Amino acid sequence: MYILGIESSCDESAASVLKASGQKTEILSNVISSQIDIHAQYGGVIPEIAAREHVLNILPTIETALKQAKIQAKDLKAIAVTQGPGLLSSLIAGVETAKSLSIIWNRPLIPVHHIIGHIYANFISTEKQAKFPLLALVVSGGHSNIIYMSDHYKFKIIGETKDDAAGEAYDKAAKMMGLSYPGGPIIAKYADEFRFSGKTCNIELPRPMLNSPDFNFSFSGLKTALLYKLQKDKKWKERISEYCFAFEEAVIDTLSHKIIKAARKYPVKSILLAGGVAANHALRAKLMTEISEKLPETKLYLPNLSYTTDNAAMIASAGYFNYYKNKNKAFADFKKLSARCDLKMS
Ligand code: KG4
Ligand code: ZN
Repeated sequence: MYILGIESSCDESAASVLKASGQKTEILSNVISSQIDIHAQYGGVIPEIAAREHVLNILPTIETALKQAKIQAKDLKAIAVTQGPGLLSSLIAGVETAKSLSIIWNRPLIPVHHIIGHIYANFISTEKQAKFPLLALVVSGGHSNIIYMSDHYKFKIIGETKDDAAGEAYDKAAKMMGLSYPGGPIIAKYADEFRFSGKTCNIELPRPMLNSPDFNFSFSGLKTALLYKLQKDKKWKERISEYCFAFEEAVIDTLSHKIIKAARKYPVKSILLAGGVAANHALRAKLMTEISEKLPETKLYLPNLSYTTDNAAMIASAGYFNYYKNKNKAFADFKKLSARCDLKMS
């Protein structure tokens, strides 16, 4: 069967066609119309501009996705769409488009929670599917969560951020250092420069909530600690790669420590990494080493890089696995479906 995925929760209008049978999935197209260049000049996403861009781009993106997949609307089984959370005006563009297409094409809608979408990026086209129970570490611009899954579409949040999300901390730290939006890739680039220089880092930053008894995160204090260090150092610009390295190490140490701690309390067969920050090479490498050393029985799954930051392939995948597990209960009545910026996971 074919599922069309639509994503518009932030600054990417995206559409994708997924072909699926049983637990096997294949992405036939994954089209992303990014607005990053437009928002970069303001140092962050401007919701009003994002919504207008979605309205312009969403239909051509969907048309291209169908064309690249070489299928027609009549071949689709269903339309999966991000219902929330995210920027309300951005979400509305995707949800209302999906509802209109659902009426015109007479195809059912599957609403998808954005974080669940990120998790299901790990179930795309993999030969060996992750086994349950599993823990997902979701680190994006809007969320940092540790989620326990006993089976497909059975979720329990066991850890979350108390303030800034990991990606948000990257973006804010980058802004403080005069670097462009989004901050993650540029900080990662500077950090790598220092990492591979062989120099010793002389900047110490805190690992927030490392020893707290729960599985929650807090990245706001780390950001402030970085700000104080920068304010005290008149020559910080000359050491920018060292600052980026110190910041990145603090983030990835914390994430790796918490997921391992969670897996000791909740023994699982698999650990999945998901969200935009999952594109970070140092985090991927750290988790590979730490999990194989400390949890040799647990298999780590890292999403393909093209499915880490926002995309619609992950939304189609999540929509499909909801249908796979729950059959027609996955479908929503289009008359009752609306975008929800504060959508909860269950
Ligand atoms: O999942 P995503 O595309 O959007 C949300 O759902 O929020 O994540 C975007 C976030 C941004 O904060 C961006 O700075 C971060 O992911 N990011 C990275 C990297 N690439 C993107 N963070 C660290 N290292 C990267 N390579
Ligand atoms: Zn996202």
